[in-house]
Amino acid sequence: MPKRRDILAIVLIVLPWTLLITVWHQGAINPLLAARKDDRHESRRDSRNTFTLKKPCSSENNKDIVEVVHTEYVYSRPPPWSDVLPTLHVVTPTYSRPVQKAELTRLANTFLHVPNLHWILVEDSPRRTPLVTRLLRETSLNYTHLNVETPRNYKLRGDTRDPRIPRGTMQRNLALRWLRETFRSNNRHSQPGIVYFADDDNTYSLELFEEMRSTRKVSVWPVAFVGGLRYESPKVNTLGKVYGWKTVFDPHRPFAIDMAGFAVNLRLILFKPQAYFKLRGVKGGYQESSLLRELVTLNDLEPKAANCTKVLVWHTRTEKPVLVNEGKKGFTDSNVEI
Ligand code: UGA
Ligand code: MN
Repeated sequence: MPKRRDILAIVLIVLPWTLLITVWHQGAINPLLAARKDDRHESRRDSRNTFTLKKPCSSENNKDIVEVVHTEYVYSRPPPWSDVLPTLHVVTPTYSRPVQKAELTRLANTFLHVPNLHWILVEDSPRRTPLVTRLLRETSLNYTHLNVETPRNYKLRGDTRDPRIPRGTMQRNLALRWLRETFRSNNRHSQPGIVYFADDDNTYSLELFEEMRSTRKVSVWPVAFVGGLRYESPKVNTLGKVYGWKTVFDPHRPFAIDMAGFAVNLRLILFKPQAYFKLRGVKGGYQESSLLRELVTLNDLEPKAANCTKVLVWHTRTEKPVLVNEGKKGFTDSNVEI
């Protein structure tokens, strides 16, 4: 039987050694932990990258090997709602076609960067489709999902395009009605807002949304790749007033401007409840004028984008994609939603 004194001696010898080894071991792994923490800070800064490709290793043999570092998405989608910024009500007509999901995904990715954006997506269809419903739900944007089908006699037949048949008109008008019904009665003094008509196939810079946010009545700016020109633009004099239109296609229109080239203050939309886009008897290119002439005069227009000297939106009509694999045995998979 070991004596109590022997046990005490053993404990007194073993304990300091155990402590010493533990401390030494901690010291060896701490720098590793510190390095990992730094990595995480690094990834936060580069939060939009899922992967960071580091330079290839310097060794000659490993030239083709790249080190892949996984990082996490840490940004918020969309940006936090601000109580001081006006809401941008962005109205988009959309219809089912092979590129629809690609277009809406591209648009959603742009809108996710814009604070206080409310997307009013209006489907040209007899009912809201599962594709669009799902897409909207998954973006986590603030949205309102509506639908109205353009009557058959207003739709183009075959592949030829009749310029007298307006596209997206009924959908934009439904959005105008929704805005009036939602904001007129109960929330008259609610948060100020701006209304913008953003077709689903155009390209929008983030700067554009900040330009339109200060619209008092109707603001205007240039649009690229429209009317057969590199860009169309309002003409602005030295006093910053719009006095005409730089366009080739019918410059005598009251408002010779593309749908993507203006925004309207929500107050004005509510104040002029009769103002809608005209569906019947409107010549090609006159749709925008049919709404704007009900709202403002030329003198009221507020030029944006550095007095209309910058292009911040591109009208990019989508071509019908060539579906090379369609019909070929083994290539078509109708279960895949694209
Ligand atoms: C041009 C203008 O840029 C549009 O703002 C205008 O509505 C249109 O002409 C017109 O003629 O009415 P464009 O590129 O020719 O646009 O037309 P699309 O981009 O094909 O259509 C405009 C919007 O309406 C798109 O958002 C599109 O998705 C939607 N649309 C189009 C429908 O909702 N239904 C349709 O049958 C066709
Ligand atoms: Mn278009």
